[in-house]
Amino acid sequence: MTGMYERICNEYESFSPHSRDSAVAARDVFPGGDTRSSAHFAPYPLFIERAEGARLYDADGHTLLDFMNNFTSLIHGHAYPDVVREVSEQVARGSAYAAPTTSQVQLAQHIRDRVPGIEQLRFCSSGSEATLMAIRCARAATRRHKIMKMEGGYHGSYELAEVSLAPIAELAGGLAAPNSVPIDDSFPPSVLVDTVVCPYNEPELARRLIASHAQELAAVIVEPVLGSMGMVPATREFLAELREATLAHEIVLIFDEVITLRLGDLGAQQLHGVTPDLTALGKIIGGGLPIGGIGGKRELMQLFHPDQKRPVMHASTFSGNPMSMAAGLAAMQHFNPQKRAHIDDLGGRLRNGFNKAFQDNGIRGQAIGLGSLSNIHLTDEPIGNARLSFAASRRTGRVLRCIHLGMLMRGVASAARLMYCTSTVMTDADVDFAIAALQDTLRDLRDELRREKPELVN
Ligand SMILES: Cc1ncc(COP(=O)(O)O)c(C=O)c1O
Repeated sequence: MTGMYERICNEYESFSPHSRDSAVAARDVFPGGDTRSSAHFAPYPLFIERAEGARLYDADGHTLLDFMNNFTSLIHGHAYPDVVREVSEQVARGSAYAAPTTSQVQLAQHIRDRVPGIEQLRFCSSGSEATLMAIRCARAATRRHKIMKMEGGYHGSYELAEVSLAPIAELAGGLAAPNSVPIDDSFPPSVLVDTVVCPYNEPELARRLIASHAQELAAVIVEPVLGSMGMVPATREFLAELREATLAHEIVLIFDEVITLRLGDLGAQQLHGVTPDLTALGKIIGGGLPIGGIGGKRELMQLFHPDQKRPVMHASTFSGNPMSMAAGLAAMQHFNPQKRAHIDDLGGRLRNGFNKAFQDNGIRGQAIGLGSLSNIHLTDEPIGNARLSFAASRRTGRVLRCIHLGMLMRGVASAARLMYCTSTVMTDADVDFAIAALQDTLRDLRDELRREKPELVN
């Protein structure tokens, strides 16, 4: 008997024959047809031919509203006219020089003036590199080596940044002192020993864990919204406790604002009034081009100073490249408080509409998030930490996939884990279109869900 998932996959394959053919060719050159784990999903992703504003155009001639925005990096959607102009002019003047440019200084000044915790900064090429360099800076400053990260936190494509990313109940240990769990078989044991895992949104447990490891901890790194676990916002109380405890033990507090810089003006640190020592940046500051940034207190950033006796080494061929600087400056200059309020309002409208769609269809699900960042979870229990979020997505993985494919077939693109972010070029009508698509998708799945996953249906 064909189940709901098989039915939806069949419909998706009929919907996207050109993408299916391209996926077959991709499997020949890429393992599984995939060159970026986060953008891949089964049975295969849609191949995109072009994008403009809030819309993607795929290889089969469909138009999709893009709530993915390259995993939150496109604050103004695709091909934003000012970004296109600046980048076109820059590429004609050369795409990269091993030399400074005034555009680097201008973008740095812009960020420094808007982010409370940043007195000085450096650019790099990705958010992964930004968190890595922030960690190295903290280690050099404190001469300690252990790093505390949050359970379910993601800081990039290297081992430490992914410890305990997937808090599998059988491996995770007790909440008060979670185990350091590798995400795959590539982790050397030393990384697990050097990483202390902290439960998210548990101020009291965090305070105790920090105190018990204080002598060895160089840094505590935290995302103000737990992105990979489905946009779980930190409470202000939790961030404030991390600030207090790290100050008490002279540990460097790093905010990973690679995703959350779009909140507040600019950053969750501004929104919550909690200022870290170092901030890792990425995504929106590149205006759609590859970028990262490390910023923070002058005394810490001085450790990168080339005249230091032993400066923290940071090179990287595309650091501060003029293309990313041009795109980033154009994007940031247009990201003003009015536009931020607009994307936050759209985010709120989307969550309300999605929540109503779950209620109207009698399905246990919810949209959570903050400002322009949202994520669907298939549970009606409140989600405050990684364990609750991960357990729900593990229980309901195939249903999430059906909703994702169903939404794509109705012209709405999101991350496969049902993450949605709004961009400044979106309108209320765009958001309402997505809400109607979810209503329709849930209506379509409801009877099969009642048979196959009755615990999800009221
Ligand atoms: C919170 C966070 N930190 C770091 C990174 C790594 O950034 P990049 O993919 O640019 O290396 C990401 C990427 O999604 C992220 O979400």
